[in-house]
Amino acid sequence: MLLQSTSSLILEHYISTIATSIILLLVSHFYYQIFINPLGKYPGPKFAASSRIPHLYHTFKGDLLEWVTGLHAKHGDVVRVAPDELSYAAGEAWKGIYGHASAGKPVTEKDTRFYGPSFNGSPDIIRSNGPDHARFRRNFSHAFSDRALREQQSLICGYADSLIDNLHKTTKYNPKAKINMVRMFNLTTFDIMGDLTFGESLNLLAGTGNTSWVSAIYVSIKTNSLRRLARYIPWTAPIAQKLIPEELAQQSVAHYQASQERVDKRVDANHTLQKPDIWGIVMSQKEDLRLTRTEMYANSQVFMVAGTETTATALSGLLYHLLMAPDKMRIIVEEVRGTFAHDSDIDMRTLEHMTYLNACIEEGLRIYPPVPVGLPRVTPEEGLLVCGEHIPGKTAVSIHHWATYRNARNFRLPDQFIPERWIGDEFATDNKAAFQPFSFGPRNCIGKNLAYHEMRLILAKVLYNFEISLHPESVGWEKQKTFFLWEKKDLMVQLKARK
Ligand code: HEM
Repeated sequence: MLLQSTSSLILEHYISTIATSIILLLVSHFYYQIFINPLGKYPGPKFAASSRIPHLYHTFKGDLLEWVTGLHAKHGDVVRVAPDELSYAAGEAWKGIYGHASAGKPVTEKDTRFYGPSFNGSPDIIRSNGPDHARFRRNFSHAFSDRALREQQSLICGYADSLIDNLHKTTKYNPKAKINMVRMFNLTTFDIMGDLTFGESLNLLAGTGNTSWVSAIYVSIKTNSLRRLARYIPWTAPIAQKLIPEELAQQSVAHYQASQERVDKRVDANHTLQKPDIWGIVMSQKEDLRLTRTEMYANSQVFMVAGTETTATALSGLLYHLLMAPDKMRIIVEEVRGTFAHDSDIDMRTLEHMTYLNACIEEGLRIYPPVPVGLPRVTPEEGLLVCGEHIPGKTAVSIHHWATYRNARNFRLPDQFIPERWIGDEFATDNKAAFQPFSFGPRNCIGKNLAYHEMRLILAKVLYNFEISLHPESVGWEKQKTFFLWEKKDLMVQLKARK
């Protein structure tokens, strides 16, 4: 009896000692993060300042965008969103965070916890830092140069024409058909990028290809975003693994294997094949710039992700906003139909100079940026000057695209779709330099020019050929979750071929 009560006393003692230690640890952790950490002077929720949990919770829920934007609306242009992370909604921060290195200004590196490793563990252009990145960038810049784009014009035009044929067939067969333009834009950008990346068509618009590519890419983006839990809090890795359905994980693996096989086919088929696709250009380069086969696999994956969803998203968002603003739609349609007498006259060079069409594209990217979140960089050991303030080393910093573009301090009437803000002086007070949908500096989008050509061409051809109306079920389409990129809903429209 006595022995039993002594051992339960000892147990109680241990439990209370452990509980007290845990409480003391937590209190000192919170006290440090809130009162001693130099980031303590930045506003934000106290729980987010002392723990990564709120940030990860909103990542998982798919509403990180609203959460961070809400914090900026409440606290201003700089907010502490996690113990070691600041989010900015100020254009002045682009240079400091994403700009080139200069005398006294070191360059930041990508936050690997956010990006995660590539599928095969090999470095790729989006994830690598330092010399690897410089080598990839030099290598691929030829494939995305103006000269290469001129050579790729007929390839891109061919797929835009296939989209139009496809839409004509559907409407001819069933004039009342509801068409999901998100899917149609996706099939088009996948076909273009597939051909540029693998040197052969994926045949998605033709209807004979494997369209699971399209969903597999978004799945890989979403699962990567969910895997972040384990990268920020490593001991949660087994839990994070369980949270991702096995089926989704397998889809991503299958997609990666399919890309790998296509790269092998392209590269082995003909080393000297002179096609204006990416590997045709890369393989014609000097030996020292060449990539290993595993680097080719990893980079192909990047192109198929970065060059497809983004452009299709931009087109979908822009079309939606034009359909919701008939007065703007009328102006752009008049410009397109007034400029080109025939569909076959539509060409990249003329499109570059069309004022209203280009203003609509800019406004579309502002009101619905395809990459809406902040892309974190880590400050160097010695810290970094951002917006005139010294930020300590090893802090994650980013500019939040959505919060910046919807910030009334940067753009007047920020929630309204007004292409005119990009033309003339009426919106001269807008801080246009804050708008960087393709990012800024040495890590900006290498596919920016390609994306603009694709957007102009595809949009002009669709508007030239069809009268479009939004199906009522798609009103409110823009309310979507984000898992790094938008989880786009179907955008249902009805088309009438132009007489
Ligand atoms: C409207 C369409 C597009 C938008 C809004 C967009 C946006 C962006 C952004 C914001 C970044 C910076 C990523 C980061 O900091 O981690 C980026 C990088 C990149 N984008 Fe795009 N992108 C688009 C289309 C394309 C296309 C068509 C390609 C073609 C392959 C492409 C390839 C890349 C690559 C390879 C990078 C990494 C560059 C580097 O780190 O050096 N993107 N893009």
